[in-house]
Amino acid sequence: MRWTAQVLFVAPLLAASALAQTSCTKLTNDLPAPSMAPGYISDIASRGLKYPRGIQWDTTGHLLVVDRGVGIFRFSVDSCLQLQDRRLIINDTELNHGISMSPDGKTLFATTNDVAYSWSYDPDTGDVDDRKTLVTGMANTEEDGHVTRTLLSPISKPDWLIISVGSQSNIDVSTLSVNSGKAQIRAFNVSEVSKKPVVFHNSGFILGWGLRNSVGITEDNEAQLWSVENSVDGVMRNGEEIHENNPAEELNFHGSLLDSSPRGNYGYPNCYAVWAADEIPDHTGLQTGDQFAQVENSTVNDIICAERYQPPRISFHAHQAPLDIKFDGDGQAWISFHGSWNRAEPIGYRVVTVAFANGQPKEANNSQSAAIEIMANPDLSQCQTSCFRPAGLAFDTAGHLWMSSDATGEIYVIRKDDGSGVAAFTSNAAVSGPTPGPTPSDKPSSASGVVVSGWLVTVMVGLGMLVYML
Ligand SMILES: *[C@@H]1O[C@H](CO)[C@@H](O)[C@H](O)[C@H]1NC(C)=O
Ligand SMILES: *[C@@H]1O[C@H](CO)[C@@H](O)[C@H](O)[C@H]1NC(C)=O
Ligand SMILES: *[C@@H]1O[C@H](CO)[C@@H](O)[C@H](O)[C@H]1NC(C)=O
Ligand SMILES: *[C@@H]1O[C@H](CO)[C@@H](O)[C@H](O)[C@H]1NC(C)=O
Repeated sequence: MRWTAQVLFVAPLLAASALAQTSCTKLTNDLPAPSMAPGYISDIASRGLKYPRGIQWDTTGHLLVVDRGVGIFRFSVDSCLQLQDRRLIINDTELNHGISMSPDGKTLFATTNDVAYSWSYDPDTGDVDDRKTLVTGMANTEEDGHVTRTLLSPISKPDWLIISVGSQSNIDVSTLSVNSGKAQIRAFNVSEVSKKPVVFHNSGFILGWGLRNSVGITEDNEAQLWSVENSVDGVMRNGEEIHENNPAEELNFHGSLLDSSPRGNYGYPNCYAVWAADEIPDHTGLQTGDQFAQVENSTVNDIICAERYQPPRISFHAHQAPLDIKFDGDGQAWISFHGSWNRAEPIGYRVVTVAFANGQPKEANNSQSAAIEIMANPDLSQCQTSCFRPAGLAFDTAGHLWMSSDATGEIYVIRKDDGSGVAAFTSNAAVSGPTPGPTPSDKPSSASGVVVSGWLVTVMVGLGMLVYML
């Protein structure tokens, strides 16, 4: 069992952090408090970043944050679960989203629009060294081209660096060719590309193509790869504009990382997933999760969409813009939705879970209710300007979920309302090291900047006894 070592490791730390906990001053902003599902709380852990995107734990319990247009910051975490000791460990204004750490914690990866780099990383000091160029040729230079290159250094395949590259434009017909190197997820052998960099479009192992912009990629606790795809804007059907509630955003399944058989095409730019079937002209037989063609003719039509392409495993309401997905230790998926722009009424701007059992989502492929809302903006009409916008997600070893909000320059931490983690352990936990354990939740405060009494916890280690006092 993969997590055994972590369990032994974390237990003494919980006691240590409980001892240090006395009181916490909540960080606040001018936004209305997030709406939390019953049983959950969220707090601001850091403010004042420029545009934080991908986040990643190191093996000594420091959070690394890609601040777009700045570089990579490293933070320590205090007993109030606030980020301290901010230090810019990589000063590179081109880094814009992607970040990952090798499972041994000693190699850091990050991306620009064009290039994937590695650095040797010292988890004790946070010092980086020996920058290497691994993969090049990923730049999208069109105005509506997708610029993030999400990275994953999988625990189940530590030799690999997986990279997701989006399309060059909203509807990019160059991606009909697998050699375009756009709208694809590929895996590269780190030992090999560290010796000699490669160009994305003609190397690596293809884990899926025909994926418009799969910004979130992750492995589950069973070595299977999943991605969340941002689907097309302004979609038409046989000449009619139907973009308000279609097409669906997608949760796609890419199979086991230990399986080397060739992967399929997921439909883009020929076929898109249905969200609201009855709003699609000539929708006979279509239901949520099926794929449809924008214009039906003899070479591209709904039947060919169904026969040739991989459908999503789960669909989400159009335009929510999923940016990250992470599995918790109980095997449930957590997804950040950045929020819409291509829609009259804003939608998204929230964090959801999708329930899994036996390595697959519990809900059927045609479900419209797979996303369970955990954290949301209370007034969507104020978005995009006055809302937090979820981007990167990362679990610490205590099962707290950390989230970056790029638009507000903040990092949040989401917990159960007793201060414990949202789930026991996570795939990320295997990479991340000790972070302060679950701190009992602070009492909510109405005024900003108020010092809130925390729980003073005395741990009588010698007697093996815990005494809790308010
Ligand atoms: C980052 O590098 C630039 C250019 O070398 C320099 O001007 C800037 O001060 C550096 N920023 C920090 C925070 O060190
Ligand atoms: C990566 O390349 C090395 C050296 O060529 C090889 O030994 C290893 O098996 C490769 N790993 C994978 C996952 O293909
Ligand atoms: C059918 O539509 C596709 C996508 O718009 C287009 O690429 C293709 O050329 C069309 N085929 C015919 C026979 O018109
Ligand atoms: C969903 O679709 C996948 C892939 O086509 C299929 O293997 C699976 O059986 C379907 N599951 C459900 C619950 O419909």
